Amino acid sequence: MAMPDSAPPPVLTLDGPSGSGKGTIGQLLAGRLGWHFLDSGALYRAVGYLARRHGIDAGDAETVADLAARTDIRFAPQHGALAGVIANGEQIGPEIRTEESGEWASRVAALPAVRRALLQKQRDFRQSPGLVADGRDMGTTVFPGAVLKIFLTASPAMRAQRRYKQLKEKGFDVNLARLVGEIEERDARDAAREASPLMPADDACVLDTSNMSIAEVVHHVLALLHERLGQQA
Ligand code: C5P
Repeated sequence: MAMPDSAPPPVLTLDGPSGSGKGTIGQLLAGRLGWHFLDSGALYRAVGYLARRHGIDAGDAETVADLAARTDIRFAPQHGALAGVIANGEQIGPEIRTEESGEWASRVAALPAVRRALLQKQRDFRQSPGLVADGRDMGTTVFPGAVLKIFLTASPAMRAQRRYKQLKEKGFDVNLARLVGEIEERDARDAAREASPLMPADDACVLDTSNMSIAEVVHHVLALLHERLGQQA
């Protein structure tokens, strides 16, 4: 699996709607491969969170994009699916993981100027020996040359259940019926927007995880990846 020295580090993209399992599966894959992990949703969540805290209107493209461009966002060394981030040196806790923060993230993420401001920041995560990138447009826009692109789906009921469990475990007060509505609304906005909508890349492998265990998905993706990397060697 040796790569020529000049080859950029390989990228595995995992896109899909909320609750499709990207975060959990992406982190497991990154751990198994010893690759870096980019949780791109956390970048949008951090920008949305900071905009809200600074009283900036989520529709004010110029001001939010300027905020996104000026904010250095890093992940704490151990970032679980519900962990926070460090924005301009400030630790922002798990509050960026609430559905309300997801809603703000989705609103600022619909602004093309914000997406442009975050593009290079996301590409900078492509470091040796490789990167697993999780989001909505990893395979279509951010890493179009990824060695393997996976688009994860699952039934809306299953996705809501997963999010519910995740948020409950973190101690958030959640209502399943309301969560279903919020997830549907967020996914609809993400899929309908003009700038980098939620959609599989033409060359993505679409995987419905509704009836698959996490271990099965990880195993399947690793097999696909090793096949691709083998073809490149
Ligand atoms: O993945 P997560 O639920 O944390 O993402 C929060 C929101 O950020 C999504 O609903 C979406 O609007 C936005 N997002 C995006 N592009 C990405 C990752 C997330 O637009 N690559």
